[in-house]
Amino acid sequence: MTGLTAWIGVYDILRPSAGDTVLVTAAGGAVGSLAAQLAKRAGARVIGTAGGAEKCDLLTTRLGLDAAVDRRADDWRDHLAAAAPAGIDRVFENAGGPCSTRPSRS
Ligand SMILES: NC(=O)c1ccc[n+]([C@@H]2O[C@H](COP(=O)([O-])OP(=O)(O)OC[C@H]3O[C@@H](n4cnc5c(N)ncnc54)[C@H](OP(=O)(O)O)[C@@H]3O)[C@@H](O)[C@H]2O)c1
Repeated sequence: MTGLTAWIGVYDILRPSAGDTVLVTAAGGAVGSLAAQLAKRAGARVIGTAGGAEKCDLLTTRLGLDAAVDRRADDWRDHLAAAAPAGIDRVFENAGGPCSTRPSRS
């Protein structure tokens, strides 16, 4: 189910091209982690958001994402801007808008 959701979302709807910058929110979750890897497989430059430094580290070191942004950091907007200096071409919105709602600390 998670794989099918990610597959359809990335390959049927998002359709990233090689060289696109793709943002995947909740990239450490079940669907997001797969979507992020599929977008990488399509040749995109992939940025993931996740809650906490440990998850963000996992995104870049284990899953091979190009950058990770901690949505709980106060300055997450700055980190996202730094990770995407040329802008974002595609967004796999997976968590109801962590980039538009105030992230909570827990
Ligand atoms: N699993 C499926 O088979 C399936 C099928 C169809 C659709 N979906 C949908 O796909 C989405 C992700 O599902 P999932 O199964 O991957 O869930 P999941 O593994 O539980 O991951 C969801 C992640 O969302 C992040 N999150 C939670 N609250 C948030 C908030 N307020 N703002 C921003 N991020 C928040 C959390 O990660 P961080 O704290 O690291 O950000 C959480 O780990 C959901 O909308 C779900 O309904 C899932």
